Amino acid sequence: MSKKTIRTGIVGAGFSARFHYEAIQKVYGTHVEVAGVYALDRAQAREYAAERGIRPYDSLETLIDDVDVIHCCVLVAGHEEVAVAALERDRFAIVEKPLTGYCGDGSDAFHGDHFPKQAALARGLESVERMLAAEQKSKGRILYAENWVYAPAIQREREIIERTGSQILWMHGEEAHSGSHNPTYAYWKYSGGGVMIGKGCHPLTAALYLKRVEGRGRGGSPIRPRSVSARTHALTRMENFRDEGFIRRDYYDIDDFSMMHVVFEDNTIATVFASDIVLGGIHNWLEVCANNHRTVCNINPNTSMQVYNPLDANFRDVYTVEKIGTKQGWTHMPTDEDWFTGYPQEIEAFYRTAAYGDPVESDSLLAADTISTIYSAYVSAERKGAEVEVRAF
Ligand SMILES: NC(=O)c1ccc[n+]([C@@H]2O[C@H](COP(=O)([O-])OP(=O)(O)OC[C@H]3O[C@@H](n4cnc5c(N)ncnc54)[C@H](O)[C@@H]3O)[C@@H](O)[C@H]2O)c1
Repeated sequence: MSKKTIRTGIVGAGFSARFHYEAIQKVYGTHVEVAGVYALDRAQAREYAAERGIRPYDSLETLIDDVDVIHCCVLVAGHEEVAVAALERDRFAIVEKPLTGYCGDGSDAFHGDHFPKQAALARGLESVERMLAAEQKSKGRILYAENWVYAPAIQREREIIERTGSQILWMHGEEAHSGSHNPTYAYWKYSGGGVMIGKGCHPLTAALYLKRVEGRGRGGSPIRPRSVSARTHALTRMENFRDEGFIRRDYYDIDDFSMMHVVFEDNTIATVFASDIVLGGIHNWLEVCANNHRTVCNINPNTSMQVYNPLDANFRDVYTVEKIGTKQGWTHMPTDEDWFTGYPQEIEAFYRTAAYGDPVESDSLLAADTISTIYSAYVSAERKGAEVEVRAF
């Protein structure tokens, strides 16, 4: 069978736009032509385009008109606008995590610590509903770029659950490191929250996904989240935090530690940690405790390669692993970090959907459940951990 050609456009020209482009280069089931890039920061878009030999566009609409698929690699505040514009023109929208969010009321006085979190939940879900409504009317689809769903360890666990008919009793997991590199990440108004949404969405979505797999594998419908209890903290904003220069600490109004405890509709549970205070490189894992097996999915670090380097300077020109503080001593250096993280696999899968109609594992309903759970968790955290119902989509 000859490969179908799909034309694609990148929206956003920053960090995630770079790894999306890398992943597009690895797509093998579809012939992908990158038409160009559009970003609010035109200078950044021009530089991104020049480095890759693609066209910088001056308008989002013109780019969308020229392509079949859009990569939405913009800040959370712009996800809905970009995705809906693509869907209204019957295009597929690959949307970075989190699907959408509540980014404040636009006023100078807005501060993440002081507004009622019920408003974030209500406005966040309204945004989700608008995106789902646009998808329903469209010939395109939302392809939710949650790389954890496509990480090889999570997909192997899916296979175990499907083949052995497991009942998952408890999952616990974490995404953590010593602080985002992105200056905008410090503000609720750009990211729709702090670490609970920014990093917590990753292990949470993987956990929600595996309970869906369990439900559908037993011939039934997905097993959805029913309630959540959560705590958030801003440890690096405490007056008594003793800064030794290893952990980022310039957050304006966001949480840097979070814990969500989710109860599913079958009364089984998942506990998800996310933080910006963990040294030693990125720490991403999910442990599954089932009735018939137990699995630890080590996304990062893992032991695919362990390197001992006696002197930091030796490795001046060697990339080792995301967010590591030193290259000296022993390092868990993944043989292919992007592959373990699931980036090429998710993009390959999305192009198969766009080209050949393959089913989507990480779809808009999974994304919607993630948003609903996280903003319900912010309501719970405001109530110091009281249990809050989750509206599942
Ligand atoms: N899956 C992952 O591992 C991962 C990692 C990092 C970031 N992300 C996600 O990627 C998204 C972008 O983050 P980033 O780190 O790439 O940000 P970034 O600041 O590096 O880049 C953002 C880009 O989007 C453009 N932009 C912002 N709002 C826009 C809008 N409304 N319309 C058009 N262009 C707009 C900016 O000009 C810039 O080029 C976020 O949703 C973030 O959560 C995902």
